[in-house]
Amino acid sequence: MLATPLATPLVTALLERLTLEQKVRLLTGASLWTLHDEPAVGLRPIAVSDGPTGVRGAALDDHDPSASLPSAGCVCATWDLEQVRRLGALIAAEARAKDVDVVLGPTVNLHRSPRGGRHFEAYSEDPYLTGEFGAAYVTAVQAHGVATTAKHYVANDSETDRFTVDARVDERTLREVYLAPFERMVKEGAWLVMSAYNSVNGTTMTANPLLRDPLKDEWGFDGVVVSDWMAVRDTEPSANSGQDLAMPGPDGAWGDALVEAVKAGRVPEDAIDEKVARLLLLASRVGALESGPATVPVEPWDDTAIAGLLREAAADGMVLARNNGTLPVPPREGLTVGVIGQHALRARAQGGGSASVFPRRVVTPLDGLREAYGADAIGFAPGLPPVDELHPFAGGTVTDPLTGAQGVRVRYLDQDGETFSEETIPSGRFSSFGDARLARAARIELTTRFTPDRDGRHDVGYAGLGGFSFEVDGVTVGTGSLGIPEGGDFMAALLNPPSRVVSHDLSRGRTVELRLTYTPELLGVPFASVKLGFKDLFGDPEQEFQRAIETAAASDVAVVVVGTTEAIESEGFDRPGLALPDGQDELVRRVAEVNPRTVVVVNSGAPVLMPWLDEVAAVVLAWFPGQEFGAALADVLTGAREPGGRLPTTWPAREEDVPVWEVTPDNGRLAYAEGLHIGYRAWLKRGADGGNPPALPFGSGLGYTTWQIGAPVLTTEGDRVVVLAEVTNTGARHGKQVLQAYLSRPGSTVERPVAWLAGFTTVRADAGERVRARIEIAPRAFQHWDTEAHAWVTEPGAFTLRIATSVADPGHSVPVDPAAQG
Ligand code: BGC
Repeated sequence: MLATPLATPLVTALLERLTLEQKVRLLTGASLWTLHDEPAVGLRPIAVSDGPTGVRGAALDDHDPSASLPSAGCVCATWDLEQVRRLGALIAAEARAKDVDVVLGPTVNLHRSPRGGRHFEAYSEDPYLTGEFGAAYVTAVQAHGVATTAKHYVANDSETDRFTVDARVDERTLREVYLAPFERMVKEGAWLVMSAYNSVNGTTMTANPLLRDPLKDEWGFDGVVVSDWMAVRDTEPSANSGQDLAMPGPDGAWGDALVEAVKAGRVPEDAIDEKVARLLLLASRVGALESGPATVPVEPWDDTAIAGLLREAAADGMVLARNNGTLPVPPREGLTVGVIGQHALRARAQGGGSASVFPRRVVTPLDGLREAYGADAIGFAPGLPPVDELHPFAGGTVTDPLTGAQGVRVRYLDQDGETFSEETIPSGRFSSFGDARLARAARIELTTRFTPDRDGRHDVGYAGLGGFSFEVDGVTVGTGSLGIPEGGDFMAALLNPPSRVVSHDLSRGRTVELRLTYTPELLGVPFASVKLGFKDLFGDPEQEFQRAIETAAASDVAVVVVGTTEAIESEGFDRPGLALPDGQDELVRRVAEVNPRTVVVVNSGAPVLMPWLDEVAAVVLAWFPGQEFGAALADVLTGAREPGGRLPTTWPAREEDVPVWEVTPDNGRLAYAEGLHIGYRAWLKRGADGGNPPALPFGSGLGYTTWQIGAPVLTTEGDRVVVLAEVTNTGARHGKQVLQAYLSRPGSTVERPVAWLAGFTTVRADAGERVRARIEIAPRAFQHWDTEAHAWVTEPGAFTLRIATSVADPGHSVPVDPAAQG
């Protein structure tokens, strides 16, 4: 018997029409990104896509590009849920335009350690802030009939050994910290939850009792638990647990083995019925059932609307970490700006791994600053050698030799060398998974015509895993195979495959024909991925460094753009350390020595060390801000917009001060020994014991105006404490302030964080304007998880409530007793 509320008349009637085999078939994906259809119940295939920083769709190359949003860290730095609502509407429109029903996001794991490889993809180190942003994403996207997926349930907060690591987390910490954002989103109505690869307390998450309780039983989750990709690795334990759907497909550990297990009585058929019922409910929600509601139409956004929102959102998330008055720098006649650093040219709009999309365009810092200040005002010097990476030829720089269309010709050749399929792809990036042609293809050939726009040396070549033969103008210049380096990580090699280039002297305007013959290393699955492209070239390192210093010295303002890359911040691995890549600290220091008006822009998804922080005029933390990076940065530097961000995570000054550093399991286990004390809570605890403060505290960030914040006044509304405060913009221009409410409990009878975030709001006001800020505090903020009662309880008596502009700001404190309030 189906449990209510799943047993709607529609779902019950449909279930009765299905045989066991038909039901079980629905529980494994049909392909990498689709679920099975089932004509017997009028079900069309449901399409899923990563998520969360845009919607990639089914294509793994530039076939069907996407809007590239600011990554979660940047979005959360806005502290403005309205931004998420607007970005959510864009996500829904992108999903609909790509025929996607389910977005695989948001990621609501926590910034437990700053080393976490997917740090950029998650919102914050704080469970409450993360839950609020996750819930806003769910509501905004699902309002348009597109499903969201809260992932990865749970304790997938770092990447080392992610398939096998067993996170050991005590009950209270799970409830108050790691489960809390999921609870918030489930109660907000998320239609899917993704079970993680890792284990928690000894059981893999695709068979973990936490899928049942609290997720389904206590929180009443009526959606689908989808596995992370290939995370279901057994039949009965997972099928007998709260796991509903195994992805991807069509093969997997369920299928026939599960049918057998049901027939043998080892998995009850009721369990199968429940999973299918959940799937059918999801199908009716996204409009995939003939007998259910139709798919909700969503108007597509045009490029201007997309760029406008993404530019504004990125600027609103950028954090001004330091400013001695140098910023903003409005454009003026005769102004010269020296732009320094590889990242100014090779902008890192997003992090690596499954969260990445193929952007329609990326505005680099150099493009953005040239546009804002005028090309003549800008001097540029990269200063340091480029990252060793191959850039696929972009559409517009190469043409298909057969048709003359922009892009690259791809031919699929069979065993006999006959072409059995061919097409034009838009750029030098070719990736395919699950395409039937791959099984038949003995080789894949990419040909294109490249016309250089300058004279001299060009390093052209390829990257991928497999066998290659490379010709330039009919002459073979490279053959051999590229594989995973000895002892190398499979995932890392897949995401950043080895490359090979040859140097050629080419002439401006003289077209050359490039031909790459590729024998994919299929690794047992129909997957092929290869890049045809070029590497950036660099002059003599010492001379180039010197040129950067001279450019900076000769300019009125120096803007140094430093950062990490998507190869450093990605899924599949964690960062070994927090220092910027080699040479960047030295570059910043030397530029600052010659130009007192040095502005540093940090382009990273997660905290990096900034040993020069006090030696430069201003620092803007730009995160991975999405496709409008340069335009948003220009807005912030010129003052057209305020940098609106406040830190959603603590930035340390030194690695040795970081409270939670370890991400490597010991004997397969990763102990969350710090319990409740992660992020700023851990810094506060350490600080109370004499530990060093961080470089930049949680919640901090500057703007371009000044504020006066009045003492808070408390009232209640229903079960909520409402905090009101008069906030006055005392400066000379419009601005934004983020008010944060922290609770603490001196003399508590239970162990607690020193302080914890309980509410926040953003206010915007014109120069001289006074506005009333309002923060609502939910009862949960006062509760703790009682491990004896296994329930939420409120310790009687008064708490201290502090209204502040960062966790380190003394602000205004008032006593608050949630029971006595009113
Ligand atoms: C990631 C998920 C992602 C999935 C599909 C996995 O490796 O952990 O976040 O949604 O792949 O791309």
